[in-house]
Amino acid sequence: MKTIIEPFRIKSVEPLRHTTVEERERFLAEAGYNLFLIKARNILIDLLTDSGTNAMSTEQWAAMMRGDESYAGSESFFRMERVVQELTGLKHVIPTHQGRAAERILFTVLCRKGHVIPNNTHFDTTRANIEFSGARAVDLPIPEAADTQVRLDFKGNMSVAALERLIETEGVKNIPLVMLTVTNNSGGGQPVSLENIAAVKRVAARYGIPLYLDACRFAENAWFIREREPGYAGFTPKQIAQKMFSFADGCTFSAKKDAFANIGGLLCTNDDRLAVLETNLLILTEGFPTYGGLAGRDLEAIAVGLEEVLDPDYLRYRIVSTGYLGRHIADHGVPIVEPPGGHAIYIDAERMLPHIPKDRFPAQALAVELYRHAGIRSVEIGSVMFGANAQHELLRLAIPRRVYTQSHIDYVVEAILEVSEHRDRIRGLAIESEPPLLRHFSARFRQL
Ligand code: F0G
Repeated sequence: MKTIIEPFRIKSVEPLRHTTVEERERFLAEAGYNLFLIKARNILIDLLTDSGTNAMSTEQWAAMMRGDESYAGSESFFRMERVVQELTGLKHVIPTHQGRAAERILFTVLCRKGHVIPNNTHFDTTRANIEFSGARAVDLPIPEAADTQVRLDFKGNMSVAALERLIETEGVKNIPLVMLTVTNNSGGGQPVSLENIAAVKRVAARYGIPLYLDACRFAENAWFIREREPGYAGFTPKQIAQKMFSFADGCTFSAKKDAFANIGGLLCTNDDRLAVLETNLLILTEGFPTYGGLAGRDLEAIAVGLEEVLDPDYLRYRIVSTGYLGRHIADHGVPIVEPPGGHAIYIDAERMLPHIPKDRFPAQALAVELYRHAGIRSVEIGSVMFGANAQHELLRLAIPRRVYTQSHIDYVVEAILEVSEHRDRIRGLAIESEPPLLRHFSARFRQL
């Protein structure tokens, strides 16, 4: 059979609420044309993020009843720790309330002014936490990634030559760690090959610099390796994930992605000295080391989710269904970042709306129009989010895990194609007010 179906059936449902175009125009004006400021009840299909929006399984809910809520020494922590250690091979497992809390602890301990942190592409919270510590975040994607239309198997790779140049020019002592984000979220949800992970590790190790994975979407990355990298077709996703982690000296992880949890994060390291410093900070701001910022039941959900996410049937469906959305809009003339990513499709708004200049935020304008037209929420990944650091003006359609069915996605396809038909009428935006950091969450706009 060629048809790939959702490898689950639905046991518990949540109603969706329709609104009219007129209502949505009012909600937009009230929200200052910022979709983060629209109430979720007024959204029909929510593709804002794949983070924390996962549907949990019956096994996860069952495990949550087993949650040990002891302040110290919770059984749930040890269960989760065993799963993470087996998967990553990393010695110290520090639970945090989400990925950015792990980032903040890591960068507070390791970074200071004058430091430079390279990554294939930093995500917004990673960049912001590095900059908050006084250090500089530098993106080193492979040069081919600059062209959204080029189809490469591993377009998320880091430029190893650029990394070597950076270490030479900045000096080893100013680079406390190298990071690789798998998959490369800000770079289009594109995977990183094992060959690239190994090459980056070789360079980092030559200079004695630790390599950290920003491992939010490690399982999706592992599936792409299985499908695309020569020699790995016969390996299980778990074996490939273990191989990916075998090159890492540590990782940050948001359990809100590839652990099917609604909250949670992890900071892992092999460095005993660092683990002590990190745990001290954890106690100060997150909690005791056997719960971090989480309830025992959350630790259980993560432990089960980390095993479920490596199921080949799930990963095949996940990657194929994301590609389905991408192909159906791209083959009808909507320019996307090619090839389709793992967790999301990214529309190249600069190409789609050439009449809107960068400083009038074409991707934000497209997000507004898609909501106005069809009640679909997406997110800008461009100049609103990254300011002058933005490499592209992208509109991301992130797909929550195990939440929407194919008919929801068909509705999204139809809506995007209708918006594309009247693309010439879409107007740009100007910023009316913005906060000093992470402005995309709360900036307000007006339509031009
Ligand atoms: N790293 C990457 C690559 C991410 O995509 C995210 C979150 C984080 C770190 C931070 O994790 O949210 O648990 O604090 N990305 C979400 C997104 C928010 O929409 O892509 P967190």
